[in-house]
Amino acid sequence: MNKVVKSLIYISSALIGIYAFFAYAFLELGNAVHPSMKVNFNAHALGIYAHIFPSIVALILGPFQFNEKFRLNHIQVHRKLGKVYLLCVFLGGFSGLYMAQFSFGGMVSHVGFSLLAILWITSGFYAYSSIVRKKIQAHKNWMAVNFSLTFAAVTLRIGLGIGFAIGLPFELFYPYLAWLCWVPNLLVAFLIIKKDNTSLQII
Ligand code: HEM
Repeated sequence: MNKVVKSLIYISSALIGIYAFFAYAFLELGNAVHPSMKVNFNAHALGIYAHIFPSIVALILGPFQFNEKFRLNHIQVHRKLGKVYLLCVFLGGFSGLYMAQFSFGGMVSHVGFSLLAILWITSGFYAYSSIVRKKIQAHKNWMAVNFSLTFAAVTLRIGLGIGFAIGLPFELFYPYLAWLCWVPNLLVAFLIIKKDNTSLQII
């Protein structure tokens, strides 16, 4: 991946993470989302807070874990941050799965977000189990898959921006965003893995 794309990933992840932190730490709950989502957020305040704060940590930490130079020079830090990242994926993933059942946009949203949560948790599990067994290439591959899903937080907000900019009604496009925010990311992760691997290692 070239340097410009890498920098964009670092910057967009950090910006969305910082935005979400301030919006949810300091604003009244529901004030940062479309008015039609506010009632739901207030009805499941614990679920949404349990989802957002660990997910923010995963989003901000994630890109640093892919830095080869940093990893080689500070392997202990990489290990510690990796554990924090995965713990946040599990916390944010299970609470995300819970919130998916109440997400705005009906069944299309519920299924889209639920699948995203299940894949996020599962790929995190495989990333961990492969490195415990010292399968480094498999660990890298699963982490690429996992972070492509973490990055859905960024692509969802890009999608929201595009939807509003071209004047689409929120009610119409939001359910599709529950899929469009992660399926293309996953495809890109598979292309990167395919390019970097002579044989695909997943276990
Ligand atoms: C990758 C797995 C993820 C899943 C399955 C997931 C799922 C969800 C669901 C179901 C909602 C509620 C949407 C609704 O009520 O319509 C939500 C909201 C939210 N999620 Fe996630 N999410 C994920 C990742 C992340 C990450 C990595 C962040 C990091 C910033 C994040 C931050 C938020 C925020 C801030 C909201 C509130 C809505 C907003 O302010 O736009 N999520 N998520």
